[in-house]
Amino acid sequence: MNPRIELVKADITTLNVDAIVNAANNSLMGGGGVDGAIHRAAGPELKEACRPLRGCETGSAKITPGFKLPAKFVIHAVGPVWYGGGKNEAEQLASCYRASLALAAENNCRSVAFPAISTGAYRFPFEKAAKIALEEISRFIAVNKLPEKIYLVQFSDSDMENYKRIYREFCL
Ligand code: AR6
Repeated sequence: MNPRIELVKADITTLNVDAIVNAANNSLMGGGGVDGAIHRAAGPELKEACRPLRGCETGSAKITPGFKLPAKFVIHAVGPVWYGGGKNEAEQLASCYRASLALAAENNCRSVAFPAISTGAYRFPFEKAAKIALEEISRFIAVNKLPEKIYLVQFSDSDMENYKRIYREFCL
């Protein structure tokens, strides 16, 4: 287990970290799931900050302030919709993690929290997504000092248990 990576069960909007990552859509104008929760908790200024960004491509990420959130920044990452695996979904998800980590580092974030991007409404298989996240984060932190700490946030007990097992197997 890498001490810079920690699994936590939480509502990501409550975390006191430098940046939280949002599982956004291409419009960046809000939606359901974790995106809806982040926009509600940050307040309407978040949408106004997103508007001039003119959306975001799948596999990329953009950064805004966190407004009313305890987090200083929100990194809006757009994960792929799962179409069965033949549409470059794995690479797009990996690219989302790389882009988010790069933005966090550029903005001097020491701590960043990720939700399980694409595994809800976008239906990316949970275990595949978790392995991609662990792979990309491990690679990034091996060659970058920032972010110092990465939290992988699970919203349910069952996701938390699953992620723990996947992380243990990943470390073997
Ligand atoms: N804190 C942490 N994790 C959460 C929270 C929360 N408050 N709420 C949900 N999750 P999803 P996606 C988990 O559907 O699959 C939106 O409408 C959830 O249990 O939020 O990337 C966007 O606008 C799941 O494990 O994101 C897009 O249109 C994970 O977050 C679309 O959904 C991701 O689920 C993006 O879909």
